[in-house]
Amino acid sequence: MKMSPDTGFAAHASRRARLAGRLGNAVAIVPTAPERIRNRDAHYPYRYDSYFYYLTGFREPEAVLVLTGGERPQSILFCREKNAEREIWDGFRFGPAAAREAFGFDAAYCIDELDARMPDLLADRPAVQVHLGADAAWDARVLGWINVVRSRARSGVAAPTDIHDLHAVVDEMRLLKDDQELALMRRAGAISGAAHRLAMQATRPGVAEYEIEAVLQHEFRRQGAQAPAYTPIVAGGANACVLHYVENSGMLADGDLLLIDAGCELDGYASDITRTFPVNGRFSGPQRAVYELVLAAQAAAIAAVKPGAHWNAPHDAAVAVLARGFIDLRLLTGTLDSVLEQETYKQFYMHRTGHWLGLDVHDAGEYKLQGAWRELQPGMVLTVEPGCYIRPGPGVPEAFARIGVRIEDDALVTAAGCEILSADAPKSVTDIEALMRRGHA
Ligand code: GLY
Ligand code: MN
Ligand code: MN
Repeated sequence: MKMSPDTGFAAHASRRARLAGRLGNAVAIVPTAPERIRNRDAHYPYRYDSYFYYLTGFREPEAVLVLTGGERPQSILFCREKNAEREIWDGFRFGPAAAREAFGFDAAYCIDELDARMPDLLADRPAVQVHLGADAAWDARVLGWINVVRSRARSGVAAPTDIHDLHAVVDEMRLLKDDQELALMRRAGAISGAAHRLAMQATRPGVAEYEIEAVLQHEFRRQGAQAPAYTPIVAGGANACVLHYVENSGMLADGDLLLIDAGCELDGYASDITRTFPVNGRFSGPQRAVYELVLAAQAAAIAAVKPGAHWNAPHDAAVAVLARGFIDLRLLTGTLDSVLEQETYKQFYMHRTGHWLGLDVHDAGEYKLQGAWRELQPGMVLTVEPGCYIRPGPGVPEAFARIGVRIEDDALVTAAGCEILSADAPKSVTDIEALMRRGHA
């Protein structure tokens, strides 16, 4: 069997042990994601559930992890049975015995036994940790198991009385990346950085946005990443002012900028990089002015990513630079204080400066604790992605109209400040123009 690069499931086992340590005598139940039909017999590409994968490393559909706390924690996998006939059609599946061995579970059973075994696993447990509210059928199934235990009350069995949201506990674990996760995120950043370099070199007037998307996707797969972490945005000219432009069907025109927001997913982990550069390889005066402003805002935001800084510090730093720049470029009138107070900068910068990054591109973890922005700590990974999107309108100088710029990097908080995981993608004007000259040669 072809083993994936993150075999050796010690990291997953150690996460289960840490979660078990927080369970008391409770039981955690974590299902993976269902397969989803795209149309008729065709499925969407399968993607396991991030929580389930974080705790197991197991990628097959139709699987549930049950983790029992207490003095002797048990980690139990329910998964698909071996099936020689189905494996001819769909490929290898572990089956419970091999999965238990390979992934280090204490026990493993066929998924068909889940309903029969869950009431016993829940008996005399005070609480259940599970995520309810995402799938009504799953919710009903969990409550059904609890009701079976309740129905056994006369035989002296106690049913769980508390249900806690499993995500609340695991989100906090996922927020601080371990070494195995960081190795994958560094590699994902390097692959995506290489893809952005190739995209810059392939860009020229007359090429279609989807051709550049193909260059990115080709490099992701060529280097072993399984998928894009989100639908790539390849937005030429005014398309860059549509924040979630994913059509990628336009032609790239001489004199326009191209904004690319694309990152691969490697063994479950996302990268998320945006670069903006001129289609013909040379920034015009107005394009350069806007670009340098966004780059300066990003530099200020990155300087604010360090332990002890609060979550919003990078955003505040970026907004201060952008607001000043919008006034200097005569995109806005007023004083810096009035632009910040009245939030008129939102005409050109309407999104936030970042988000957590990990198994999900918008990753797990609270941004505020007890009403206050949380402090950054070493091991957290976040994006830093200021932008400027200038739609034509009253008072907007024509020279700047339809320019859209975003620059996005992935930052790991370290003891000293931060490490940029996406540094392979060039972003200074000089580096971009030099790379594109080589690409166009
Ligand atoms: N690509 C998604 C984002 O930047 O948040
Ligand atoms: Mn992002
Ligand atoms: Mn992005």
